[in-house]
Amino acid sequence: MAHVSDLIATDIDAYLKQHETKSLLRFITCGSVDDGKSTLIGRLLYDSKMVFDDQLAALQADSKRMGTQGQNIDFALLVDGLAAEREQGITIDVAYRFFSTDKRKFIVADTPGHEQYTRNMVTGASTADLAIILIDARRGVLTQTRRHSYLVSLLGIRQVILAINKLDLVNYSREVFDRILGDYTAFSSQLDIEKIIPIPISALAGDNITERSGNTPWYTGPTLMGHLETVEIASLSRTAPFRMPVQWVNRPNLDFRGFSGLVSSGTVHPGDLVKIMPSARQTRVARVLIDSDLPYATAGQSITVTLEDEVDCSRGDVICGAEHPAEVSDQFETTIVWMHDTPMLPGRSYLLKIGTKTVAASVTALKHKVNVNTLEQVAARQLELNEIGLCNISLDQPVAFDPYSDNRDTGGFILIDRVSNETVAAGLIHFALRRAQNIHWQAVDVSRAARAAQKGQRACVLWFTGLSGAGKSTVANLVEKRLFALGRHSTMLDGDNVRHGLNRDLGFTDTDRVENIRRVGEVARLMADAGLIVLVSFISPFRSERQMARDLMAEGEFLEVFVDAPLAVAETRDPKGLYKKARRGEIKHFTGISSPYEAPETPELHIDTTKLKPEDAAELIVAQLQARGLLEGA
Ligand code: ADX
Repeated sequence: MAHVSDLIATDIDAYLKQHETKSLLRFITCGSVDDGKSTLIGRLLYDSKMVFDDQLAALQADSKRMGTQGQNIDFALLVDGLAAEREQGITIDVAYRFFSTDKRKFIVADTPGHEQYTRNMVTGASTADLAIILIDARRGVLTQTRRHSYLVSLLGIRQVILAINKLDLVNYSREVFDRILGDYTAFSSQLDIEKIIPIPISALAGDNITERSGNTPWYTGPTLMGHLETVEIASLSRTAPFRMPVQWVNRPNLDFRGFSGLVSSGTVHPGDLVKIMPSARQTRVARVLIDSDLPYATAGQSITVTLEDEVDCSRGDVICGAEHPAEVSDQFETTIVWMHDTPMLPGRSYLLKIGTKTVAASVTALKHKVNVNTLEQVAARQLELNEIGLCNISLDQPVAFDPYSDNRDTGGFILIDRVSNETVAAGLIHFALRRAQNIHWQAVDVSRAARAAQKGQRACVLWFTGLSGAGKSTVANLVEKRLFALGRHSTMLDGDNVRHGLNRDLGFTDTDRVENIRRVGEVARLMADAGLIVLVSFISPFRSERQMARDLMAEGEFLEVFVDAPLAVAETRDPKGLYKKARRGEIKHFTGISSPYEAPETPELHIDTTKLKPEDAAELIVAQLQARGLLEGA
């Protein structure tokens, strides 16, 4: 490799040492190939001599063959050659390139600039300290410039280099440069960007990249590389409050109990007073270790600490400086960037991972989405791939957090689909909703178990799911009649009936069905709290929501009954004539025809209605309840 340093050959240890102590700047380049992004990155790699000799030879040959730059090197070929490979079929993909100079090490996140790659840009920007926003001097501030700047500001990047490129094509005109800068400043004043450094460049000709250009005598600022090498990184500095999300509890023997994790901000010393959040228990740090004891550790280091007292502290907790501990809440206002083909549906339960903690979460309100090109707020009922929305979210337990603007690590989160386990979104916490602090749990003395015992039974939910016409209501009705005859106390929630009252406002879009089942799951739980055997008969087509209803109940209290009839069979039965209407296109989103049904994978009971008569199915279910002891008092 044609690296700058001769030390590599003469004294590799000295070279590595020098390299280790250099600071690291992470930045992202925003722009499209047309703006000269690939050329710029290629140029930076080339000028910092991070190109292998054989790559260089190939590049020279390719450049001549393609002839795009006459006899000169086409730097874009260097980057695009790699880009072509990586753009094949990969979904969330950011190319990180590494290079270094004598002064600093750099990691540049290179993401495609088009709107369909918003999620890639968000991923790249989430760890960057600085952004280079590239503008083609001939075209000025474009829609995409605004989009990129909004995303950069949203993701908490406060430093921007406005690289006004291709200046050679406008005769190095100061007027053009000033006009573009004026346009950009007017727009960016709406955003949260602290510092904008405008630099007139030609990535192709090399103007103001590493050396000040004679073509722009009117420009007195730094070169691009000069600025990258010297800009102060206001990242999560050592002076910020201490935060360490606990990754694991390290207990090799009874004498040692350490808490390991990555310090996300601040500094910690032995003797420091800390609070374990969310419990807020206070203690002191006894030791700080990596391989051996350290006098202190700071942001970016993976460490183990031991504590003076035997306080409760486990994976997912955040050890915080006691003076400024993280906040704790279970409801937030957030911005969510949706990253998956399946849309975000308010009310659906997702897993939320913040730091090292994973909890269940759902969006309680999608306040609006943001048009990323105009920054307009648009009303919406769901978020599609690459869309960004302001959302209230609610978690199933309180977590420690900081606002994202204070700390990206403890204020950022991802959402994970509960069924597929895929990451579906990235989010940033703005603040905790105050109502969360003002609503408490009221204790009641008569418990669910006591109420159920009084009725000589255990409370439970029997959840019937299946296509319309499968026979859910018929079977549920027979089960209830048998229970009644046995003197047991039950209640029935049926889709058609509940949709006449409580859920009268809901239709059959995915969003409405999620809400339909969310409400019914909650009602079923309340009914179970009354000590009842609750029979729920809804199509409930989505696994996620059935899981959510299950999660509201204790182990063994929720029985999923799959009332199974193949579509063809349900369709021939067609008790309400709805399949015919759906086939004629008169009903939209009809389950099985124009809306999906996700069959249960492991139901407690599977009723094959092509083999079993409804009466026999009901017998089977009651026998199951008996076998599980649910029809006996405690
Ligand atoms: S669910 O999908 O949201 O769980 P639910 O069980 O409440 O559905 O309601 C289903 C009942 O609504 C069906 O039994 C049928 O009578 C009626 N219905 C009307 N339109 C539709 C539709 N598009 N898809 C399914 N069922 C429909």
